Amino acid sequence: MTSTTTASADAHTFVLGHRPVRRLGYGAMQLAGSGVFGPPRDREAALAVLRAAVEAGVNHIDTSDFYGPHITNQLIREALHPYAEDLVIVTKVGAVRGPDASWNPAFSAPQLRQAVHDNLRHLGLDQLEVVNLRAMFDVHGPAEGPLEEPLTALAELQQQGLIRHIGLSNVTARQVADGQRICRIACVQNQYNLVHRNDDGLIDALARDGVPYVPFFPLGGFSPLQSAALSGVASQLGATPMQVALAWLLRRAPNILLIPGTSSVAHLRDNLAAASLALPDDAMDALQQMTATA
Ligand SMILES: NC(=O)c1ccc[n+]([C@@H]2O[C@H](COP(=O)([O-])OP(=O)(O)OC[C@H]3O[C@@H](n4cnc5c(N)ncnc54)[C@H](OP(=O)(O)O)[C@@H]3O)[C@@H](O)[C@H]2O)c1
Repeated sequence: MTSTTTASADAHTFVLGHRPVRRLGYGAMQLAGSGVFGPPRDREAALAVLRAAVEAGVNHIDTSDFYGPHITNQLIREALHPYAEDLVIVTKVGAVRGPDASWNPAFSAPQLRQAVHDNLRHLGLDQLEVVNLRAMFDVHGPAEGPLEEPLTALAELQQQGLIRHIGLSNVTARQVADGQRICRIACVQNQYNLVHRNDDGLIDALARDGVPYVPFFPLGGFSPLQSAALSGVASQLGATPMQVALAWLLRRAPNILLIPGTSSVAHLRDNLAAASLALPDDAMDALQQMTATA
Protein backbone atom coordinates (compact mmCIF):
# COMPACT_ATOMS: atom_id res chain seq x y z
CA MET A 1 0.00 0.00 0.00
CA THR A 2 1.29 3.49 -0.78
CA SER A 3 0.92 6.41 1.57
CA THR A 4 -1.52 9.20 0.80
CA THR A 5 -0.54 12.83 0.59
CA THR A 6 -3.02 15.51 1.52
CA ALA A 7 -4.75 16.98 -1.49
CA SER A 8 -7.61 19.44 -1.39
CA ALA A 9 -10.86 19.20 -3.29
CA ASP A 10 -13.69 21.64 -4.00
CA ALA A 11 -17.05 21.47 -5.79
CA HIS A 12 -15.30 21.16 -9.17
CA THR A 13 -12.57 18.73 -8.18
CA PHE A 14 -12.20 15.55 -6.15
CA VAL A 15 -9.09 13.74 -5.03
CA LEU A 16 -8.31 10.64 -7.10
CA GLY A 17 -5.39 8.74 -5.60
CA HIS A 18 -3.03 11.55 -4.67
CA ARG A 19 -4.31 14.30 -6.89
CA PRO A 20 -7.35 16.51 -7.19
CA VAL A 21 -8.86 16.06 -10.66
CA ARG A 22 -11.64 18.00 -12.33
CA ARG A 23 -14.93 16.20 -11.85
CA LEU A 24 -15.55 16.26 -15.58
CA GLY A 25 -13.00 14.02 -17.26
CA TYR A 26 -12.99 11.98 -20.45
CA GLY A 27 -13.41 8.28 -21.28
CA ALA A 28 -11.38 7.16 -24.30
CA MET A 29 -13.21 3.93 -25.16
CA GLN A 30 -15.19 5.49 -28.02
CA LEU A 31 -11.93 6.27 -29.85
CA ALA A 32 -11.34 2.66 -30.93
CA GLY A 33 -13.08 1.17 -33.96
CA SER A 34 -16.63 -0.16 -34.07
CA GLY A 35 -17.34 -2.54 -31.19
CA VAL A 36 -14.28 -1.11 -29.37
CA PHE A 37 -12.23 -3.26 -31.74
CA GLY A 38 -9.57 -2.20 -34.21
CA PRO A 39 -8.51 1.29 -35.22
CA PRO A 40 -10.81 4.32 -35.49
CA ARG A 41 -12.32 5.24 -38.84
CA ASP A 42 -10.59 8.64 -38.63
CA ARG A 43 -7.31 8.55 -36.68
CA GLU A 44 -6.69 12.31 -36.91
CA ALA A 45 -10.17 13.02 -35.54
CA ALA A 46 -9.50 10.68 -32.60
CA LEU A 47 -6.19 12.44 -31.83
CA ALA A 48 -7.98 15.81 -32.07
CA VAL A 49 -10.54 14.77 -29.43
CA LEU A 50 -7.78 13.86 -26.97
CA ARG A 51 -5.88 17.11 -27.56
CA ALA A 52 -9.06 19.17 -27.30
CA ALA A 53 -9.91 17.48 -23.99
CA VAL A 54 -6.60 18.36 -22.38
CA GLU A 55 -6.60 21.87 -23.87
CA ALA A 56 -10.04 22.38 -22.31
CA GLY A 57 -8.66 21.45 -18.89
CA VAL A 58 -9.47 17.73 -18.63
CA ASN A 59 -6.95 16.12 -16.28
CA HIS A 60 -8.57 12.69 -15.84
CA ILE A 61 -8.67 10.27 -18.78
CA ASP A 62 -10.01 6.74 -18.55
CA THR A 63 -8.65 4.05 -20.84
CA SER A 64 -7.60 0.41 -21.11
CA ASP A 65 -5.22 -1.63 -23.18
CA PHE A 66 -8.19 -3.86 -24.07
CA TYR A 67 -9.83 -1.00 -26.01
CA GLY A 68 -8.84 -1.80 -29.56
CA PRO A 69 -6.92 -3.73 -28.11
CA HIS A 70 -4.01 -1.33 -27.51
CA ILE A 71 -5.51 1.32 -29.82
CA THR A 72 -6.76 3.91 -27.32
CA ASN A 73 -3.55 3.76 -25.30
CA GLN A 74 -1.49 4.24 -28.46
CA LEU A 75 -3.68 7.20 -29.46
CA ILE A 76 -3.32 8.75 -26.00
CA ARG A 77 0.44 8.42 -26.19
CA GLU A 78 0.62 9.87 -29.69
CA ALA A 79 -1.67 12.79 -28.88
CA LEU A 80 -0.53 13.70 -25.40
CA HIS A 81 2.95 12.36 -24.54
CA PRO A 82 4.90 13.84 -22.76
CA TYR A 83 1.96 14.19 -20.43
CA ALA A 84 0.98 17.30 -18.51
CA GLU A 85 2.10 17.11 -14.88
CA ASP A 86 -1.48 17.11 -13.58
CA LEU A 87 -2.93 14.53 -16.00
CA VAL A 88 -4.21 11.37 -14.32
CA ILE A 89 -4.58 8.44 -16.73
CA VAL A 90 -6.63 5.59 -15.28
CA THR A 91 -6.43 2.21 -16.94
CA LYS A 92 -8.04 -1.21 -16.44
CA VAL A 93 -6.79 -4.77 -16.37
CA GLY A 94 -8.56 -8.11 -15.97
CA ALA A 95 -9.71 -8.84 -19.52
CA VAL A 96 -8.26 -9.65 -22.92
CA ARG A 97 -9.91 -9.47 -26.31
CA GLY A 98 -10.36 -12.52 -28.49
CA PRO A 99 -9.78 -12.40 -32.27
CA ASP A 100 -13.59 -12.30 -32.59
CA ALA A 101 -13.68 -9.09 -30.47
CA SER A 102 -14.95 -11.05 -27.42
CA TRP A 103 -14.10 -9.89 -23.87
CA ASN A 104 -12.45 -12.66 -21.87
CA PRO A 105 -11.31 -12.81 -18.23
CA ALA A 106 -7.54 -12.49 -17.68
CA PHE A 107 -7.21 -12.67 -13.92
CA SER A 108 -4.14 -14.82 -13.27
CA ALA A 109 -1.04 -13.17 -11.78
CA PRO A 110 1.01 -13.63 -15.02
CA GLN A 111 -1.85 -12.18 -17.11
CA LEU A 112 -2.16 -9.17 -14.80
CA ARG A 113 1.59 -8.62 -14.84
CA GLN A 114 1.55 -8.77 -18.63
CA ALA A 115 -1.38 -6.32 -18.77
CA VAL A 116 0.40 -3.83 -16.52
CA HIS A 117 3.57 -4.00 -18.64
CA ASP A 118 1.51 -3.65 -21.85
CA ASN A 119 -0.23 -0.55 -20.45
CA LEU A 120 3.09 0.96 -19.36
CA ARG A 121 4.63 0.38 -22.77
CA HIS A 122 1.68 1.56 -24.86
CA LEU A 123 1.12 4.67 -22.73
CA GLY A 124 4.87 5.42 -22.48
CA LEU A 125 4.91 5.51 -18.68
CA ASP A 126 7.19 4.15 -15.92
CA GLN A 127 4.33 3.99 -13.46
CA LEU A 128 0.55 3.71 -13.93
CA GLU A 129 -1.23 6.27 -11.74
CA VAL A 130 -4.41 4.23 -11.22
CA VAL A 131 -5.16 0.67 -12.33
CA ASN A 132 -8.70 -0.65 -11.99
CA LEU A 133 -9.16 -4.39 -11.66
CA ARG A 134 -12.15 -5.04 -13.96
CA ALA A 135 -14.11 -7.98 -12.51
CA MET A 136 -15.29 -10.46 -15.14
CA PHE A 137 -17.44 -12.95 -13.20
CA ASP A 138 -20.23 -11.55 -15.40
CA VAL A 139 -19.00 -9.35 -18.22
CA HIS A 140 -22.23 -7.33 -18.23
CA GLY A 141 -22.52 -6.43 -14.55
CA PRO A 142 -21.26 -7.00 -11.02
CA ALA A 143 -21.38 -10.60 -9.79
CA GLU A 144 -19.95 -12.12 -6.63
CA GLY A 145 -16.60 -13.90 -6.90
CA PRO A 146 -13.25 -13.83 -5.12
CA LEU A 147 -10.85 -10.95 -5.87
CA GLU A 148 -8.17 -11.81 -3.33
CA GLU A 149 -5.74 -13.46 -5.74
CA PRO A 150 -5.81 -10.81 -8.50
CA LEU A 151 -5.78 -7.95 -5.99
CA THR A 152 -2.81 -9.47 -4.21
CA ALA A 153 -1.00 -9.73 -7.57
CA LEU A 154 -1.73 -6.05 -8.27
CA ALA A 155 -0.62 -5.06 -4.76
CA GLU A 156 2.73 -6.75 -5.48
CA LEU A 157 3.10 -4.73 -8.68
CA GLN A 158 2.23 -1.66 -6.62
CA GLN A 159 5.01 -2.48 -4.18
CA GLN A 160 7.39 -2.79 -7.13
CA GLY A 161 6.44 0.79 -8.09
CA LEU A 162 4.72 -0.10 -11.37
CA ILE A 163 1.29 1.00 -10.10
CA ARG A 164 0.56 3.93 -7.80
CA HIS A 165 -3.09 3.27 -6.96
CA ILE A 166 -5.48 0.34 -7.32
CA GLY A 167 -9.19 0.63 -8.05
CA LEU A 168 -12.05 -1.77 -8.78
CA SER A 169 -14.53 -1.96 -11.63
CA ASN A 170 -17.76 -3.88 -12.24
CA VAL A 171 -17.91 -4.95 -8.61
CA THR A 172 -20.42 -5.51 -5.82
CA ALA A 173 -20.41 -3.64 -2.50
CA ARG A 174 -19.18 -6.82 -0.87
CA GLN A 175 -16.22 -7.10 -3.25
CA VAL A 176 -15.34 -3.47 -2.48
CA ALA A 177 -15.38 -4.20 1.26
CA ASP A 178 -13.33 -7.39 0.80
CA GLY A 179 -10.90 -5.54 -1.47
CA GLN A 180 -10.39 -2.78 1.08
CA ARG A 181 -9.05 -5.43 3.49
CA ILE A 182 -6.35 -6.36 0.94
CA CYS A 183 -5.20 -2.95 -0.28
CA ARG A 184 -6.32 0.65 -0.38
CA ILE A 185 -9.04 1.00 -3.04
CA ALA A 186 -8.56 4.38 -4.72
CA CYS A 187 -11.81 4.40 -6.74
CA VAL A 188 -14.73 2.29 -7.93
CA GLN A 189 -15.91 2.31 -11.55
CA ASN A 190 -19.33 0.74 -12.17
CA GLN A 191 -22.24 1.33 -14.50
CA TYR A 192 -24.49 4.11 -13.21
CA ASN A 193 -26.62 6.83 -14.79
CA LEU A 194 -30.07 8.44 -14.54
CA VAL A 195 -31.89 5.20 -15.31
CA HIS A 196 -29.42 2.63 -13.97
CA ARG A 197 -29.12 3.27 -10.27
CA ASN A 198 -28.31 -0.05 -8.62
CA ASP A 199 -25.31 1.51 -6.87
CA ASP A 200 -27.12 4.23 -4.89
CA GLY A 201 -26.13 2.70 -1.55
CA LEU A 202 -22.55 2.02 -2.63
CA ILE A 203 -22.09 5.60 -3.87
CA ASP A 204 -23.25 7.02 -0.54
CA ALA A 205 -21.00 4.67 1.43
CA LEU A 206 -17.97 5.57 -0.70
CA ALA A 207 -18.79 9.28 -0.36
CA ARG A 208 -18.67 8.91 3.41
CA ASP A 209 -15.18 7.40 3.08
CA GLY A 210 -14.00 10.00 0.51
CA VAL A 211 -13.54 7.35 -2.21
CA PRO A 212 -14.27 8.47 -5.79
CA TYR A 213 -17.07 6.70 -7.68
CA VAL A 214 -16.66 6.85 -11.46
CA PRO A 215 -19.81 5.85 -13.34
CA PHE A 216 -19.29 4.22 -16.70
CA PHE A 217 -21.99 4.67 -19.34
CA PRO A 218 -22.90 8.05 -17.73
CA LEU A 219 -24.83 8.93 -20.91
CA GLY A 220 -26.28 5.45 -21.35
CA GLY A 221 -23.30 3.95 -23.22
CA PHE A 222 -23.99 2.34 -26.59
CA SER A 223 -27.66 3.46 -26.38
CA PRO A 224 -27.51 7.09 -25.18
CA LEU A 225 -30.31 8.05 -22.76
CA GLN A 226 -33.59 9.22 -24.25
CA SER A 227 -36.66 10.32 -22.32
CA ALA A 228 -39.34 12.96 -22.47
CA ALA A 229 -38.52 14.08 -18.91
CA LEU A 230 -34.85 14.51 -19.76
CA SER A 231 -35.65 16.44 -22.95
CA GLY A 232 -38.20 18.56 -21.06
CA VAL A 233 -35.70 19.58 -18.39
CA ALA A 234 -33.06 20.23 -21.06
CA SER A 235 -35.27 22.58 -23.08
CA GLN A 236 -36.40 24.38 -19.90
CA LEU A 237 -32.74 25.07 -19.05
CA GLY A 238 -31.52 25.75 -22.59
CA ALA A 239 -29.19 22.74 -22.34
CA THR A 240 -28.91 19.40 -24.15
CA PRO A 241 -30.27 16.15 -22.65
CA MET A 242 -26.69 14.82 -22.37
CA GLN A 243 -25.62 17.91 -20.42
CA VAL A 244 -28.55 17.45 -18.05
CA ALA A 245 -27.66 13.77 -17.56
CA LEU A 246 -24.09 14.77 -16.62
CA ALA A 247 -25.17 17.68 -14.40
CA TRP A 248 -27.51 15.31 -12.56
CA LEU A 249 -24.59 12.98 -11.82
CA LEU A 250 -22.45 15.90 -10.61
CA ARG A 251 -25.19 16.90 -8.21
CA ARG A 252 -25.96 13.32 -7.16
CA ALA A 253 -22.86 13.00 -4.92
CA PRO A 254 -19.63 14.94 -4.42
CA ASN A 255 -17.41 11.87 -4.96
CA ILE A 256 -18.74 11.24 -8.48
CA LEU A 257 -16.10 11.79 -11.19
CA LEU A 258 -17.35 11.75 -14.78
CA ILE A 259 -15.71 10.16 -17.82
CA PRO A 260 -18.25 10.60 -20.64
CA GLY A 261 -17.02 9.06 -23.86
CA THR A 262 -17.17 10.61 -27.29
CA SER A 263 -15.42 10.45 -30.63
CA SER A 264 -16.46 14.02 -31.48
CA VAL A 265 -14.86 17.32 -30.46
CA ALA A 266 -18.26 19.03 -30.61
CA HIS A 267 -19.79 16.48 -28.21
CA LEU A 268 -16.73 16.73 -25.98
CA ARG A 269 -17.21 20.50 -25.65
CA ASP A 270 -20.95 20.08 -24.97
CA ASN A 271 -20.18 17.52 -22.28
CA LEU A 272 -17.54 19.64 -20.56
CA ALA A 273 -19.94 22.58 -20.44
CA ALA A 274 -22.18 20.50 -18.14
CA ALA A 275 -19.76 21.34 -15.32
CA SER A 276 -21.34 24.80 -15.10
CA LEU A 277 -24.96 23.69 -15.50
CA ALA A 278 -26.78 24.08 -12.19
CA LEU A 279 -29.92 21.95 -11.89
CA PRO A 280 -32.69 23.64 -9.89
CA ASP A 281 -34.70 21.56 -7.42
CA ASP A 282 -37.74 21.25 -9.73
CA ALA A 283 -35.48 19.80 -12.43
CA MET A 284 -34.10 17.30 -9.92
CA ASP A 285 -37.71 16.34 -9.02
CA ALA A 286 -38.62 15.81 -12.68
CA LEU A 287 -35.50 13.67 -13.21
CA GLN A 288 -36.22 11.72 -10.03
CA GLN A 289 -39.58 10.72 -11.52
CA MET A 290 -37.83 9.61 -14.68
CA THR A 291 -35.64 7.37 -12.54
CA ALA A 292 -38.60 5.99 -10.63
CA THR A 293 -40.46 5.04 -13.82
CA ALA A 294 -37.44 3.72 -15.76
N1 LIG B 1 -15.19 -0.33 -16.45
C1 LIG B 1 -15.93 -0.73 -17.46
O1 LIG B 1 -16.32 -1.89 -17.53
C2 LIG B 1 -16.32 0.25 -18.53
C3 LIG B 1 -17.32 -0.12 -19.45
C4 LIG B 1 -17.67 0.81 -20.41
C5 LIG B 1 -17.06 2.04 -20.46
N2 LIG B 1 -16.09 2.36 -19.55
C6 LIG B 1 -15.46 3.70 -19.56
O2 LIG B 1 -16.47 4.66 -19.38
C7 LIG B 1 -16.38 5.65 -20.41
C8 LIG B 1 -17.76 6.20 -20.69
O3 LIG B 1 -18.59 5.21 -21.21
P1 LIG B 1 -19.02 5.16 -22.75
O4 LIG B 1 -18.15 6.05 -23.55
O5 LIG B 1 -19.12 3.74 -23.15
O6 LIG B 1 -20.52 5.65 -22.69
P2 LIG B 1 -21.21 7.08 -22.44
O7 LIG B 1 -20.20 8.09 -22.03
O8 LIG B 1 -22.37 6.84 -21.58
O9 LIG B 1 -21.79 7.42 -23.88
C9 LIG B 1 -21.04 7.43 -25.03
C10 LIG B 1 -22.03 7.53 -26.20
O10 LIG B 1 -22.71 8.78 -26.11
C11 LIG B 1 -22.47 9.53 -27.31
N3 LIG B 1 -22.28 10.92 -26.89
C12 LIG B 1 -21.32 11.41 -26.10
N4 LIG B 1 -21.47 12.73 -25.90
C13 LIG B 1 -22.58 13.09 -26.58
C14 LIG B 1 -23.26 14.32 -26.77
N5 LIG B 1 -22.84 15.45 -26.21
N6 LIG B 1 -24.37 14.33 -27.56
C15 LIG B 1 -24.81 13.19 -28.13
N7 LIG B 1 -24.21 11.99 -27.99
C16 LIG B 1 -23.10 11.93 -27.22
C17 LIG B 1 -21.23 8.95 -27.93
O11 LIG B 1 -21.27 9.09 -29.34
P3 LIG B 1 -20.26 10.08 -30.12
O12 LIG B 1 -18.95 9.40 -30.19
O13 LIG B 1 -20.93 10.26 -31.45
O14 LIG B 1 -20.22 11.36 -29.33
C18 LIG B 1 -21.35 7.49 -27.53
O15 LIG B 1 -22.21 6.80 -28.43
C19 LIG B 1 -15.73 4.91 -21.57
O16 LIG B 1 -15.19 5.81 -22.51
C20 LIG B 1 -14.74 4.04 -20.86
O17 LIG B 1 -13.55 4.79 -20.60
C21 LIG B 1 -15.73 1.49 -18.58
